Amino acid sequence: MIKTVQTTPYSDQKMGTGGLRKKTKVMMQPNYFENFIQSIFNTIGNLQGKVFVVGGDGRYYNDKAIQQFIKMAAANGVSKLIIGQNGFLSTPASSNVLLKNKTDGGFVFSASHNPGGINGDFGIKYANETGGQIPTSISDKIYENSKHITEYKIFESPDIDLSKIGSSKLGDMQIEIVDPVSDYVEMMQQIFDFESLKQLFKKGFKMKFDAFNAVTGPYAIRIFEEILGAEKGSVINSNPLPDFGGKHPDPNMTYATELLAIMNADDAPDFGAANDGDGDRNMILGKKFFVSPSDSLAILTDYYNIIPAYKNGIYGVAKSCPTSTAVSRVAKAHNLGYYEVPTGWKYFVNLMDSKRITLCGEESFGTGSSHIREKDGIWAVLFWLSIIAKTGMSVEQITRDHWKKYGRSYYLRFDFEGLETTVADKLMADLEAKLPSLAGEKFAGYEVESAHPFIYNDPVDGSSTKNGLIVNFKGGSRIVYRLSGTGSSGATLRVYLENYQTQKLDENPRQMLDEILQAAMEIAEITKRTGKKEADIVT
Ligand code: G1P
Ligand code: ZN
Repeated sequence: MIKTVQTTPYSDQKMGTGGLRKKTKVMMQPNYFENFIQSIFNTIGNLQGKVFVVGGDGRYYNDKAIQQFIKMAAANGVSKLIIGQNGFLSTPASSNVLLKNKTDGGFVFSASHNPGGINGDFGIKYANETGGQIPTSISDKIYENSKHITEYKIFESPDIDLSKIGSSKLGDMQIEIVDPVSDYVEMMQQIFDFESLKQLFKKGFKMKFDAFNAVTGPYAIRIFEEILGAEKGSVINSNPLPDFGGKHPDPNMTYATELLAIMNADDAPDFGAANDGDGDRNMILGKKFFVSPSDSLAILTDYYNIIPAYKNGIYGVAKSCPTSTAVSRVAKAHNLGYYEVPTGWKYFVNLMDSKRITLCGEESFGTGSSHIREKDGIWAVLFWLSIIAKTGMSVEQITRDHWKKYGRSYYLRFDFEGLETTVADKLMADLEAKLPSLAGEKFAGYEVESAHPFIYNDPVDGSSTKNGLIVNFKGGSRIVYRLSGTGSSGATLRVYLENYQTQKLDENPRQMLDEILQAAMEIAEITKRTGKKEADIVT
């Protein structure tokens, strides 16, 4: 039985960089989730014949959300849903299932790297048939729809059993429950040389992978322990839990404390890695050694031709604007196409689809390639392991070798969190207004060479996006300012700092960025406007 439920709109269902992300309790308000899903269905229009992929990272409210989604899809005329067993699918695995089955789109219920649980965050990521998250032109339409919604449709039925692989029906809609891991593993085996990786572990290579009790545990166990032969216990926090066991599943120097302690101990394993809640981000560590994500992208690009899937050549490489310039030097050395896009993975998708790039990445611990249309945490780990297996070098040696060859971009991101939206917006507007007057000025001993907003003109669809403000200094250092688009409340100012050096390769990043940090604080009047003397989070 199809039921039509009367509803009233919410005014805040605007998607940001990572879909619609809200406090779990906001998402649990009456009809909140349903309104948003119906707004998407209304925007798509005719759903006859449409097939979607559905899964999530297992966080609190996933089970309820997925049941509501299935019933709404059936009531709205969707032809088929492909669902990860027990409602699980990592973001990269979902993108793969979506592309492999040539479906019309996919839904991942996740707030990515944000904490879960009833007091944490919940989110909805919506990808279209490209396999990547929808463009702003479509999310704007969904937002408009959500502001005027008056009713939604839902199929009245008991909950669907998601625990058994196989096919069933709800009304006229077909439901196929799939193993969330097996297709993904198969794809990784087509990209990388698993035999050489097995040899690496046979020789006694040791690793630790932290899954933060989120979605990647089962993928990591299957790939690293069961297939490649890493010793049992190599994957920690491998059991997906609704509140991630209280962990904040963000793979960085602030939140990956357990893994960092392991990797900083005298008896540390050779290699450490972590993924975020939904498996698209990655952090790479060596023994007492951290690889900055910007360097990681540059290093992977430099070694592309050792990977079976890329050895015959790649199209090009792209980075987000705030990501350090390290990869630009590698692109130049290899004569690869090179692009700089706004923050957010969706901007890479057009470049992949039009065969302009194969590899891409962001400073926010995201790296990936055109095998799917999302960033991919486990892929990045396998790429690093492949470089180690091929070169016989450690993570630290590989990175130092890179700096010797290309110079080093000292790089850190400073986040000022919990700002009032009005204060943050005014800071950015005033800063943008004064950018033209900064050229030639000196701050903390650094002279501004140029200052301008970052404007991206998409070479494929012709759209233009402004995101972030750049201040370049003489000598190659720079600041990028932008506001986060993924927060679930208030505003976060991100300040990205880079200092490029060709001789000084062994310094402390924090010290190397100290003066530029002072300049950044001064230029944007951060303390005066926000009351904050220092950043809340440095990654
Ligand atoms: C953050 C990251 C960005 C990433 C996004 C989704 O967005 O900075 O690189 O694409 O999460 O994972 P932000 O909060 O900065 O808008
Ligand atoms: Zn994520």
